Amino acid sequence: MEIINRRQRIFSISRKLRREEKTVGLVPTMGALHEGHLALIKEARQMSDIVIVSIFVNPTQFNNSVDLEKYPRDLTKDVARLAEYEVDFVFAPEENEIYPEGFSTFVNVQNVTDGLEGEFRPGHFRGVATVVTILFNTVRPDLAFFGQKDAQQLAVIRRLTQDLGFETEIVVVPTVREESGLAMSSRNERLTAEGRERAAVIIKALREAKTAFKRGERNASELSRIVREVMATEPGAQLEYVAIVDRNTMQKLEKVGDSEALILVAANVEDVRLIDNVILNRKQ
Ligand code: PAF
Repeated sequence: MEIINRRQRIFSISRKLRREEKTVGLVPTMGALHEGHLALIKEARQMSDIVIVSIFVNPTQFNNSVDLEKYPRDLTKDVARLAEYEVDFVFAPEENEIYPEGFSTFVNVQNVTDGLEGEFRPGHFRGVATVVTILFNTVRPDLAFFGQKDAQQLAVIRRLTQDLGFETEIVVVPTVREESGLAMSSRNERLTAEGRERAAVIIKALREAKTAFKRGERNASELSRIVREVMATEPGAQLEYVAIVDRNTMQKLEKVGDSEALILVAANVEDVRLIDNVILNRKQ
């Protein structure tokens, strides 16, 4: 496993791999690796000849400087974990390698970024779209792996891949969960053991609404009401939003039709903001 800091180096490695007709899989991360990331890497290992994991805490996607400062960083620990998973290259650039002095170009994906996380975290998706574009342009991966937990991010990345004509296939990996059902996230580290238990109400609420959907409920307002009702049973969790949206466009639905839809939740537990979702009418 080689650790690379320079963009030019990863660019030339990737050019060589393309000439050799190797399938390159990229797993973009911000480090603080947990089981959720490892699931992405395992999938990448199965589907690609060469696996590249990027570790870069992207400053432009943080709309809160305290969050950026507090973000856990431990490259040595992350690299040690990656060594167990037969990763070929780790791309861990310094900030000025991605955003050199004078950097002035940002990628703004419209519509799909309106509302939900886009509303609660202004500028977040502009930062994500910009760094993903830089990574795709540098690594030119055949495949890139993202988790279903960050559903709106996924929709943004799919949109930009299509709009900017990247040849990268976006592979979606199901959310990995703790035993309680809580979706894995680097933020879980900030919860106490009790907080983690309390946070499991999120998936409980989502699953109850999904059960109602399977029994025939199609009204978004009723599905949302079920989520709210279950969330209200746990006073330690404060619901920020629940929304029923089209999986690709992220537009809110009044009724769920035949296409893929999501029930999305954002909630606060012990001052930690958590998101999760379930898929309705899953096609793949
Ligand atoms: O999901 C993440 O960890 C980040 O948003 C990503 C995609 C690596 C971009 O910085």
